[in-house]
Amino acid sequence: MSKPAMRVAVTGAAGQIGYALLFRIASGEMLGKDQPVILQLLEIPDEKAQKALKGVIMELEDCAFPLLQEVTAHSDPMTAFKDADVALLVGARPRGPGMERKDLLAVNAQIFTAQGKALNAVASRNVKVLVVGNPANTNAYIAMKSAPDLPARNFTAMLRLDHNRALSQMAAKAGSAVGDIEKLIVWGNHSPTMYPDYRYASIAGKPATSVLSDDDWNRNTFIPTVGKRGAAIIDARGLSSAASAANAAIDHVHDWVLGSNGKWVTMGVPSDGSYGIPEGIIYGMPVITKNGEYAIVKDLDIDAFSRERMDATLNELLEERDGVKHLL
Ligand code: NAD
Ligand code: LMR
Repeated sequence: MSKPAMRVAVTGAAGQIGYALLFRIASGEMLGKDQPVILQLLEIPDEKAQKALKGVIMELEDCAFPLLQEVTAHSDPMTAFKDADVALLVGARPRGPGMERKDLLAVNAQIFTAQGKALNAVASRNVKVLVVGNPANTNAYIAMKSAPDLPARNFTAMLRLDHNRALSQMAAKAGSAVGDIEKLIVWGNHSPTMYPDYRYASIAGKPATSVLSDDDWNRNTFIPTVGKRGAAIIDARGLSSAASAANAAIDHVHDWVLGSNGKWVTMGVPSDGSYGIPEGIIYGMPVITKNGEYAIVKDLDIDAFSRERMDATLNELLEERDGVKHLL
């Protein structure tokens, strides 16, 4: 007998990332090849967006995915999130011409307050929430604060794209395969202040610090390349990353639900106070996932250089939090 279907809500479903994401969820790449899914897709009420969403649903139907039990279109988070087991919050307001960072924070605060409240009211009590829409960490913080009846630990932000970007840079430098790298960390905010940290990593069983022994490369090439990769893609494509972002979302939820087999992965999670990060701040942390839960890897030594980097990205998150405090 087949498993009961899982309900996956996706916002911004007619956008670029949605188009690279939905077909892979429906084919079983996110939750397993034996896991039926129901997709509950949210877009803004705008006629054009709803029409585009219908087109995407037509294409999903035309794939005849055996695992896809049902697809529904929504313009209201209260129906889109009903009984959702997984919620991928991808839709967000992009920065428009002349828009300041604080304006961007404010419009997104409205969106993520409403969506947090809707999740609080109607989603499964075990819903796993991944925020992709930028500013992802602060949007996840807002949604979490707007959903007091749900466990805070169920709200996460996407740092997995940064983790994957860092893996690729390291593999290229070392001349090894990405699959040979373990125990990489990306600390902090999904923004250029993030701190990719390979002090604990190994490459084919050898310490990454000895394989990539060039400190100058770490400080002046690796860290800035990973931090500015999103902007480099926008510059090259004229659009922000979509397929790689969707891929990272699949990786994040896959590992959260099905486990990371003892491996470290990076998730933006509400801090429990570890590493001097104030409780509740959504911060990229090394985690191990098992049985649908994540556990932060604890008690790693933080050297002076790392402390400085970790505090810089924390300070940015504290500023973002303070910028939306009055809206919560
Ligand atoms: P896009 O503009 O192509 O699509 C976004 C979609 O969201 C649009 O169709 C829009 O109508 C919809 N939307 C906007 N507000 C909504 C709301 N309140 N409810 C439901 N839908 C809503 O953008 P995209 O390229 O798909 O990117 C989506 C977001 O992901 C952006 O904020 C982008 O910056 C972010 N992003 C994050 C990462 C990451 O690693 N965390 C990586 C890439 C992109
Ligand atoms: C990315 O990392 O590719 C995106 O977050 C960039 C962006 O600003 O949308």
